[in-house]
Amino acid sequence: MIAGTKWWQRGIIYHVYPRSFQDTDGDGIGDLKGIEQRLDHIAGLGCDAVWISPVYPSPMKDHGYDVADYTGIHPLFGTLDDFDRLVARAKALGLKVVMDFVPNHTSDRHAWFLESRASRESEKRDWYVWRDAGPDGSPPNNWISVFSGPAWTWDEATGQYYLHSFLPEQPDLNWRNPAVRAAMYDAMRFWLDRGIDGFRLDVVYYCMKDPQLRDNPPNPGWKPGMPEIDTLLQAHSNDHEDMAIVIREMRAVVDAYDDRLLIGEIYLPLERLMAYYGRDLSGAHLPFNFQLILTPWEAREVAALVAQYEGLLPQGGWPNWVLGNHDQKRVAARVGEAQARIAAMLLLTLRGTPTLYYGDELGMPNVDIPPGRGEDAWGRHEAGFSRDPQRTPMQWDDTEHAGFSTAEPWLPLSPDWRVRNVASQDRDPRSMLTLHRRLLALRRASPALAIGDWSGIETVEGDVFAFERHHQGDAITVVLNFGASEVEVADLRLPGGTGRIALSTHLDRDDQNVGPGVRLRPNEGVIIVA
Ligand code: NOJ
Ligand code: MG
Repeated sequence: MIAGTKWWQRGIIYHVYPRSFQDTDGDGIGDLKGIEQRLDHIAGLGCDAVWISPVYPSPMKDHGYDVADYTGIHPLFGTLDDFDRLVARAKALGLKVVMDFVPNHTSDRHAWFLESRASRESEKRDWYVWRDAGPDGSPPNNWISVFSGPAWTWDEATGQYYLHSFLPEQPDLNWRNPAVRAAMYDAMRFWLDRGIDGFRLDVVYYCMKDPQLRDNPPNPGWKPGMPEIDTLLQAHSNDHEDMAIVIREMRAVVDAYDDRLLIGEIYLPLERLMAYYGRDLSGAHLPFNFQLILTPWEAREVAALVAQYEGLLPQGGWPNWVLGNHDQKRVAARVGEAQARIAAMLLLTLRGTPTLYYGDELGMPNVDIPPGRGEDAWGRHEAGFSRDPQRTPMQWDDTEHAGFSTAEPWLPLSPDWRVRNVASQDRDPRSMLTLHRRLLALRRASPALAIGDWSGIETVEGDVFAFERHHQGDAITVVLNFGASEVEVADLRLPGGTGRIALSTHLDRDDQNVGPGVRLRPNEGVIIVA
């Protein structure tokens, strides 16, 4: 505990995709009891909080991101009692629980939408975004769904189009209607009252769109291979300036409780992202920063990114970093297995709250899904964009179905599960899992790493990215080789001229003395204590 800081500033968040973490009822799909059983793994790793992707009642068209009831639990995952037990067990282990909350859209099976679509006179008609067709019957504007195709679906019965930024089965709520906002804030309070520690707000920046619903302009940067959504710039379909009002209201909801956390899922350029901290930091505590996923994996690019992000943060705004999630190619697949160790060291030594995606602590790969076993709606709507490969079951041990389930899992296991699993990496002093444990332990023990300042070391060139973290007397230097060749860094500008290696990504040179420079092997990173 470092005085004056919040748990979520010091803390490390672990992201669980509930369908894929642990199944306990033998249906091949993970559940709440399973997460509860495996909380020890998360706590043992050294994490402070668990964020759970949606577990609400849902037709599962988008695997839970199509919510049919904001105050219940899908029977597939268990019951509210199971949820309460999970929260109680988490608390006993010192873990916070962050819930996924999906404000932009509901399922088309949500009672609100059923009522809204029942007639034009419905009291809830204006809870969603309904518009007349153009004179030729065309949709109200040119907006495209994130999963491809028009963002509007025609409702034959009432003769209007409704807006859906994602699937047709995910109609967008009308956040300009105060009754919608009040109902959603009540739903948030329902979970806060149950003792959860915060929310991750799904695509929160979509809640407010251009009130005139103007056409989006073409994107000159679109190239074949990019998804259809990127053919247009999302100038009017999200991130309207009135988002400032919504995010402030959401923050006020959580601020009525003690010490809760608000995270926003926001894919916007850094300048726009910063707006979500809110005026005088009245917005999200942590607008998710996905730049490590989106930036080319090269030392110079990443160094420039970190400096730019640090420079743009508002006064007092707390940084955060993300390497992977259920929507993105796994980090080991993006940067390669050797560099995934560098990525882990970077994530866990940068300034700001890190979020770890389940399985990345094992270096899990993206998994080829055989034809016929695809599950993801995006993949079904647009070839080549399935997110199934990064959502395969957690690999616990080398027993049948990797200890994930007693039945065939909903998605196939990665072919490497017999060797790449928690049990085997637990025994291996050089494993990716051991590296994560050591990194987390160091971060927790070192005020410089947990909450200290960050500054880049500019004398270093080529494939190396080096930086310092310091807090009062505590100083740490991190040197990362993004290349596959050996490098000699001549001078690290270590505070006392020399230092000691606290950790290498290769896990084999503890306590070596270094200075004024250091030699790094291919794909090696080191943490040096001054
Ligand atoms: C972002 C979520 O992370 C993703 O999985 C989902 O499909 C969309 N939002 C729509 O809710
Ligand atoms: Mg199950």
